Amino acid sequence: MDGVTEIRRGTLQEQTFYEQVGGEETFRRLVHRFYEGVKDDPLLRPMYPEEDLGPAEERLALFLMQYWGGPTTYSDNRGHPRLRMRHVPFKVDRAAHDAWLKHMRDAVDDLGLSEEHEQTLWKYLTYAAASMINSPD
Ligand code: HEM
Repeated sequence: MDGVTEIRRGTLQEQTFYEQVGGEETFRRLVHRFYEGVKDDPLLRPMYPEEDLGPAEERLALFLMQYWGGPTTYSDNRGHPRLRMRHVPFKVDRAAHDAWLKHMRDAVDDLGLSEEHEQTLWKYLTYAAASMINSPD
């Protein structure tokens, strides 16, 4: 075993981002707060096909947990994320993007993460949201 492997296996092994920010509870709080915003949003709410937002909340929470190094339950249930493809049925234009990010911003702020964690999470969310746009204004 070389030195690097030894270190990786030992106590110096880094925690995943998922673990660092508090694991499942943190991601569930984030996504729950996000859907509290979606629930009353006149542009976004009609886009969600199901009456009950609970299953959508579960899918987004499991996806984000998996993305950040938590359990792979999302893909175990849903397969490869292919998020752009899964958003094709919905009109994601600039206005939808802005509304989505507004509720996410409120939800991230409520978590009270360290500045470094908050920035890492926010950078990803803004990048991912921009990449989901599939309709011109
Ligand atoms: C940019 C604006 C966005 C809009 C308007 C939007 C809207 C939607 C809608 C209407 C659904 C269907 C609800 C459901 O049945 O699950 C959905 C699903 C989903 N969205 Fe988004 N979304 C956006 C961005 C994002 C981003 C940035 C991510 C990831 C970081 C994301 C992750 C997901 C996931 C994981 C699902 C469930 C996919 C599945 O397994 O079927 N979305 N989104």
